[in-house]
Amino acid sequence: MKSILVTGGCGFIGSNFVRWELKTDPDLRIVNLDKLTYAGNLENVADLESNPRHRFVQADVANRTSVTELLRSEPFDAVVHFAAESHVDRSILDSGPFVQTNIVGTQVLLDACRAANIPRYVQVSTDEVYGSLGAEGYFTEDTPLAPNSPYSASKAAGDLLVRAYFHTFGFPAVITRCSNNYGPYQFPEKLIPLFVANALEDRPLPVYGTGENVRDWIHVLDHVRGVDAAMRRGRVGEVYNFGGRNEVRNIDLTRLLLELLGKPESLIRYVTDRPGHDQRYAIDCAKAERELGWSPQVDFREGLRETIAWYLSHTDWVNRIRSGEYRRYYAEQYGGRTETGVRRQESGEAT
Ligand code: NAD
Ligand code: TYD
Repeated sequence: MKSILVTGGCGFIGSNFVRWELKTDPDLRIVNLDKLTYAGNLENVADLESNPRHRFVQADVANRTSVTELLRSEPFDAVVHFAAESHVDRSILDSGPFVQTNIVGTQVLLDACRAANIPRYVQVSTDEVYGSLGAEGYFTEDTPLAPNSPYSASKAAGDLLVRAYFHTFGFPAVITRCSNNYGPYQFPEKLIPLFVANALEDRPLPVYGTGENVRDWIHVLDHVRGVDAAMRRGRVGEVYNFGGRNEVRNIDLTRLLLELLGKPESLIRYVTDRPGHDQRYAIDCAKAERELGWSPQVDFREGLRETIAWYLSHTDWVNRIRSGEYRRYYAEQYGGRTETGVRRQESGEAT
């Protein structure tokens, strides 16, 4: 591949993908289209500013004119679509931007790619489109879509458009579905960076509900390698799941973070649950292992240590993000949540 278009390359996973591709493929050029929403940050790619193989274009993926013109302006060997509204809690507060970016944006991008005869398209999606698991079982690529949050519903709708464009027009698309990522440059609204940032300031860690919900955590670079494999070797029309084979209960993760940070468990606050909170996600990634020769590499404890070290050395980055719009969001999201006292009941202290 000589040239690719990446959307959302100034967000968490997109910026890790762009950096990794430029490092591992010295012949590759990348155009990075990003709207720079609250979650997109040029600082995330500041080290690539002087790299002649990286070009940033500020645009909305749902803007038909800009996207069509960009795709016409030069030939791309592939388009990798990361750009999205990505946070479940925000989608509960307001689903509008999720429908606009994740559904309309995907449709606009698909049309522009078709018009430009793009030979390969990767839709970066999520395991959340499969809904929620009970105590047993795993999501496979054949699990029926049953999204439960406005975020996952909008991602599933995007995936269905991609599927339909493949089926109807033979559009050369591959879909990837990954579990929960962690690592450097993650916006501190998601569990791991939020809890690390709060703990470092001795502020409470708001655990939703009983803290027994399970997520399958994967290091962002393992996900990046998976998207790369799907882009280069994935079969058109196929879906590939990626996961860390690493199921952890939220409360166990919270305790582990506090242990690694040397902070007390008294910072834990059990708060009102997220509405519609999915109980458990767990990915069966055997297809990607078999067909793409991919497997998750990063040890969780080691990955968390490195991630914490990254946040410790990027306090300016965190502080800049946690000013401004973030404060309004934090007050709206957490201000109305009451402490539930689950912890006191657990330890037998409840009355
Ligand atoms: P993020 O919120 O950190 O970044 C999203 C990026 O998209 C930002 O740079 C933002 O500016 C950009 N963007 C948003 N709306 C846009 C628009 N209308 N036009 C152009 N750019 C726009 O998200 P992330 O965590 O890096 O997730 C990236 C992708 O991976 C998403 O599609 C998400 O659904 C998927 N995914 C994320 C996870 C996870 O754990 N974070 C897991 C599986 C899949
Ligand atoms: P999150 O990082 O938002 O990812 P997702 O909802 O996409 O899985 O949340 C991970 C888990 O942590 C999820 O079960 C919700 C929970 N959670 C909390 O308990 N407290 C919080 O403040 C946040 C943001 C999440």
